[in-house]
Amino acid sequence: MNYKLFVSGEWIDSESGETFSKVNPANPDEVIGEFQKGNSEDVNKAVDAAEDALEKWSSTPPPKRGRILLKAAQILEARKEELAKTMTREMGKVLVEARGDVQEAIDIAEYMAGEGRRLYGHTTTSELRDKFCMTVRRPLGVVGLITPWNFPIAIPAWKIMPALVCGNTLIFKPSSDTPLCAIRLIEVLVEAGIPKGVVNLVTGPGSNTGEALVKHNKVRGVSFTGNRDTGKAVLKMAGLKKVGLEMGGKNGIVIMDDADLELAADGVTWGGYGTTGQRCTAASRVIVHKKIRNEFEKLLIGRIRELRLGNGLDPETDVGPLVNSAALDKTETYVKIGRDEGANLSCGGKRPNMKGYFYEPTLFTNVTTDMKIAQDEIFGPVVSLIQVEDFDETIHAMNSVEYGLSSAIYTNDIRKAFKAIEKIEAGITYVNSSTIGAEVHLPFGGIKSSGTGSREAGIEGINEFSETKTVYIDYFGKLQRAQIDIE
Ligand code: UN1
Repeated sequence: MNYKLFVSGEWIDSESGETFSKVNPANPDEVIGEFQKGNSEDVNKAVDAAEDALEKWSSTPPPKRGRILLKAAQILEARKEELAKTMTREMGKVLVEARGDVQEAIDIAEYMAGEGRRLYGHTTTSELRDKFCMTVRRPLGVVGLITPWNFPIAIPAWKIMPALVCGNTLIFKPSSDTPLCAIRLIEVLVEAGIPKGVVNLVTGPGSNTGEALVKHNKVRGVSFTGNRDTGKAVLKMAGLKKVGLEMGGKNGIVIMDDADLELAADGVTWGGYGTTGQRCTAASRVIVHKKIRNEFEKLLIGRIRELRLGNGLDPETDVGPLVNSAALDKTETYVKIGRDEGANLSCGGKRPNMKGYFYEPTLFTNVTTDMKIAQDEIFGPVVSLIQVEDFDETIHAMNSVEYGLSSAIYTNDIRKAFKAIEKIEAGITYVNSSTIGAEVHLPFGGIKSSGTGSREAGIEGINEFSETKTVYIDYFGKLQRAQIDIE
């Protein structure tokens, strides 16, 4: 099947005349489809379409925009199973998680639909008499959205839904690993009644489509989720646009000596190996108190050994493949690095004898904070266990990485829990729960190399896609000079 770009309400071929193919990572013989290799000319066309549609869309009453999002949520709900299966075939995520991904898109569509009746600014007092002060929100204009493959429906929805309710028009450039999910999402939006030109899709390599979009002078805002180095390049290229960045993580889970160890072992297994470790919020480090280290390690290894690798469509499967052969190579390389660094390979550490980009869930123990496997984002099923002596060392170990996205602590000591919330350098801290599973009505994002301070979802998602205008209304009737006529 040959899929198209979506520009100005039409499905069209790329100006490049070229396509690329995408295979099922659980079975690389299965081709998912041929997709357009978009280029800068396609991006220009899409930006022009978005610009033409902007005036009408931005002046459409926000509750009406919200109703379209609600309709999209309903269509997503009706197609959840079909979309989840497409996702599993396209990028390998196990079906139950793929359903969760679609659910997250439904959640954000519903949340942002409600924003159509809020989009609050605020009113406040004035220093001067007979003067009214308030803020109102305005859309940014044409925005570019660049999304990764690991949440191929949810993350685009995290960006598309707030962008639309705020009155922006957009160009969506998905990862080349998940073009089909992107196309399916566009179909849902079109069916929900999004007018022509408001949403445009350009597939193709980041080096020409993504770059052209980020640099385009008519694009007012860029929202990017992906790896750190690409994020840095986006920031550099974007010039004076408003930029939202969500970059990687090296998220840690602390297990204190008073923790419920069974609960913690479940949390590490889910956070470390769910989505095959391919979440920016994945738990790739476990910081364990020495008193319970042996006991915890045993519990964890028991759980890891029970994980069943396989095709995500099989209900028996716990862990699917990596997304592509490059991701598999990266995981293999890091396992070798871990061994060379002197970490102890406790579990996994090889490719199973299976077709597809599978890798065994892997655990390194005796890891120290300075090792590369404890510092770099691997984005695969590899977890490092680091032993510490006390609470202070725990916090130090947690903060010893350049990233700061998600984090967790397992403890039953309320003082330690609050101290951890205060001291851990991360955008998200979970207590007695794993590092993954963000909810859409709360802000999502990181600090340090994980982001530049922008947040997605919740009300902060509205901030990302709107601008504040400050309004002063003077009804005194005579000149009043600010800061001067204040008596
Ligand atoms: C990501 O991996 O890029 O918190 C986002 C979670 C998800 C979002 C992850 N809902 O695990």
